[in-house]
Amino acid sequence: MDKLQNTIEILREYNQEHVIDLLEKLDEDKRRELIKQIDNIDFHQITELYNNTKKQIEFKESKIEPLEYLDKEKISQEQKNQFDKLGEEIVKEGQYAVVTMAGGQGTRLGHSGPKGTFKLDVYGKGKYLFEILAENLKEANREYNARIPWYIMTSKENNKETVDFLEKNSYFGYDKNNVVVFTQSELPIVNEQGKLMIGKDLKIKEASDGNGGTYSSLRSSGCLADMKERGIKWIFIGSVDNALLKMVDITLLGMAKYKNVQIASKSVVKANPHEKVGVFCKMNGHPKVIEYSELPIKMAEEVDSEGELKYGESHIMCNLYTIEAIEKVSKEPLMYHSAYKKNSYIDESGKEVIPSEPNSYKFESFIFDAFEFFDDIAILRGKREDDFAPVKNKEGVDSPKTAKELYEKFWNRS
Ligand code: UD1
Repeated sequence: MDKLQNTIEILREYNQEHVIDLLEKLDEDKRRELIKQIDNIDFHQITELYNNTKKQIEFKESKIEPLEYLDKEKISQEQKNQFDKLGEEIVKEGQYAVVTMAGGQGTRLGHSGPKGTFKLDVYGKGKYLFEILAENLKEANREYNARIPWYIMTSKENNKETVDFLEKNSYFGYDKNNVVVFTQSELPIVNEQGKLMIGKDLKIKEASDGNGGTYSSLRSSGCLADMKERGIKWIFIGSVDNALLKMVDITLLGMAKYKNVQIASKSVVKANPHEKVGVFCKMNGHPKVIEYSELPIKMAEEVDSEGELKYGESHIMCNLYTIEAIEKVSKEPLMYHSAYKKNSYIDESGKEVIPSEPNSYKFESFIFDAFEFFDDIAILRGKREDDFAPVKNKEGVDSPKTAKELYEKFWNRS
C-alpha cells in the first residue's frame, strides 16, 4: 500500500474523513507535509483523550489528606542555618541548574508575544519578565560565586520569537554559554465532535501539550544529558510569570537535602478559598496538587479546627528535583487534562471560522502530576509578599498592576 493510501486508511478508521478531503485537494508538497504531520499523531491517544472530555473528574474513591509543611518563618534560626549551609554548598559546587517554563503566550494578559517578553511597568523604565528572572539568577551567581546553567523551555509557537528577543537583549547580561533554549512538544486540538481541526496553513491544528511536557522535553532535547555532563544534581523548575520567584532558595534546597527527598516545593497560604491556584494534598499516600479548575468547592472551602483552610498550601510553581527524579519522570507518561477553548479553523469550503464561544478541546499535562510518582515531598511555606507576584490577567487580581505593587514593595524593603 502506498503512503497516501495508508494515511487515508488511518484517517477513515478514526472518522477523520474531512482530512482525507483536504489531502486530495492539496498540491504535492503540501500533501507530503500533511502526511508527515499525520504520521506523528497517535490517533488512539487522541480518541481516548477526546472520550475523556465527557467524564467528570472524581476524587471520591481516593483518600485525601492535607500535606505537612515547614513554615520558613517559624523554623528555628539553628535549623535555618543548617538548611542554608547545605543548600549553599550545592550551589557553590556547581550542582544546581534552573529551568524556566516559558512555553506560554501572554494571551490572558492581552500581550501578543511570549509571556516572558511582557514588560512589567516597574520603577519607571519597566522590566521584562525574562529580565527579572535573569537578574535573579545573576544575583545568585554573585552571592554564591557560581555559574548556574539556565534552561528555558519554549513552545513551537514562540521559540523563534523568544530566541530573537533574548539575543536582541543580550540575554540581559546572563552568560550565553550558560543558557540553553529548548522546545516542548505539541498535541492536536479537536472540535466538539472529536474531529481534528484544520488551520489557515492547511495543517492540522496543534497546541503545546502543557507544562507537564517539561520532563520529557528535557530528555528529548538533550538538556538532561547536558545537565549530567555538567555535574548537576539538583534542578529547579519554575514559571516565567511570577515577578517575585526566587529561583535559588538555599533554605528550600538545604531542606530537601536534609530531609533526603527527591522533590520539594515552596508554597504560600492561599489568599482566599477561590484563588486560582493549585493546592497541595496527599492522595492515597502520595503527594499531589489539585488544580483550581478541578478542585471541588467543598474541598476549597473546608477549614480545620483553627479556622484555617484545610487545603490552603498553594502551588506557586517553585519546584525542586534531584536529577534522579527528573530522570525517572521524564520516562513516565503523565495524565492529560482537557481545556475547552476557542479556536479558529478552516471549514470544508476553505473559509476561516473565528468562533465567539469555545468550540474545541486542548489537551495538557500538568507539571505537578509527576509528584504522585514519589512517596514524599518537602514543602516549605514561604511568604506571599516575598515569593509570589503572578502576572496572569490583564486587569484585577494577578495583573501587571498587582505584580508591580508587590515587586516594588519587596525591593523597597530589601
Ligand atoms: C499555574 C499552575 C497552578 C499554580 C499557578 C500559580 C499549572 C498547570 N498550573 O496555573 O497550579 O497555582 O500557576 O500561578 O502549572 N507553560 C508552558 N507550556 C505550556 C503551558 C504552560 O511552558 O504548555 C508555562 C507558562 O509559560 C507559565 C506556566 O507554565 O510559566 C504556567 O502556565 P499557565 O497555564 O498560565 O498556568 P496557570 O493557569 O496560571
